[in-house]
Amino acid sequence: MNLTNANPAPEGPAARPSDRTSSSRVTHESARPPGAQLELSDVTVEPALLDGFGWERVFPGRGDRPIELEIGTGKARFLLHRARSMQQHCFLGIEWANEFYRFAADRMARWGVRNVRMLRTDAGVFVRTVCPRRSLTALHIYHPDPWPKARHHKRRLFQPAFVSAAAECLVDGGRMFVQTDHAEYFTIIAGLLRNHPDLAAVPFEPDLAERPGAAAIGTNFEEKYIREGRSIHRIAVERRPRL
Ligand SMILES: C[S@@+](CC[C@H](N)C(=O)[O-])C[C@H]1O[C@@H](n2cnc3c(N)ncnc32)[C@H](O)[C@@H]1O
Repeated sequence: MNLTNANPAPEGPAARPSDRTSSSRVTHESARPPGAQLELSDVTVEPALLDGFGWERVFPGRGDRPIELEIGTGKARFLLHRARSMQQHCFLGIEWANEFYRFAADRMARWGVRNVRMLRTDAGVFVRTVCPRRSLTALHIYHPDPWPKARHHKRRLFQPAFVSAAAECLVDGGRMFVQTDHAEYFTIIAGLLRNHPDLAAVPFEPDLAERPGAAAIGTNFEEKYIREGRSIHRIAVERRPRL
C-alpha cells in the first residue's frame, strides 16, 4: 500500500465524491469473520448528511455515548479493533482515498461492527467547518501524510487553523492522539499542539489501561514501520476547560 502523496484530498467545501461505494461487497480479506454481517449502507455516512450535520443523524439514539473520530483510517486496523473493544463508544472514521474508504467500510460491515460509521470526505474541511464543537471525546490521527517536499507543505493536515478547529471540536477533557514516523513533521505537529492555549500535553495512552482487553494502537502503517525499524513519534494532548 503506497498512500503517501498519492491522492491529495481537495481543499474547499465541495469535498463530496460522486463515486460512492455501491451496495456490492468489496472483499479484500480471505478470512470471513463470524457474526452478523451488515450492509455497507449500515456503516457509511452519505455525503448529504454533511448539510445540517449532527451526531444524532449519524448515530440515531446514541444518547450520551462518547464520540471518537479517526482521520485517515487507511485500512482501518486501529478503528476496527478499538470499536470492537469499546462498544459503548461511537466511532466515525474519515478517509479520503476511495479505495481505502471502501476497504474500511467493507471491513466494518463484514465484522458486523455497529458502533462505527465511515465517511469519505476531506477531514480537514470536516473538522474546520462541519464537526460540531465540543463533541469529541477523542480524535485519533495516525501517520498523517507528511508531504515531505517544501512546496507541498501547504497540503499537510496540521496547520494552525486545523489545530484550532480540532481543539474546538473536543469536549473539555477530550484528547487528541497523533503519531507519525516523520521526524520533521512531528516537530511541527508537536509545536502546534503544545503551543495551543486550550491544549495540554498528556501521556500517550489512549485510555486503554482503563479498559482491559482494548486494542493497542497498532495501525497498519505503524506495524509496517516498526517492522522496518523506523522510529515512531507520538504525542497526546487534552483540552483544558476555559476558566
Ligand atoms: C499514511 S496513511 C495512514 C493510514 C492509517 N492511519 C495508518 O496508520 O495505517 C494516511 C491516510 O490518510 C488519508 N488522508 C490523507 N489526507 C486526508 C484528508 N484530508 N482527509 C481524509 N483522509 C485523508 C490517506 O488517504 C491515507 O489513507
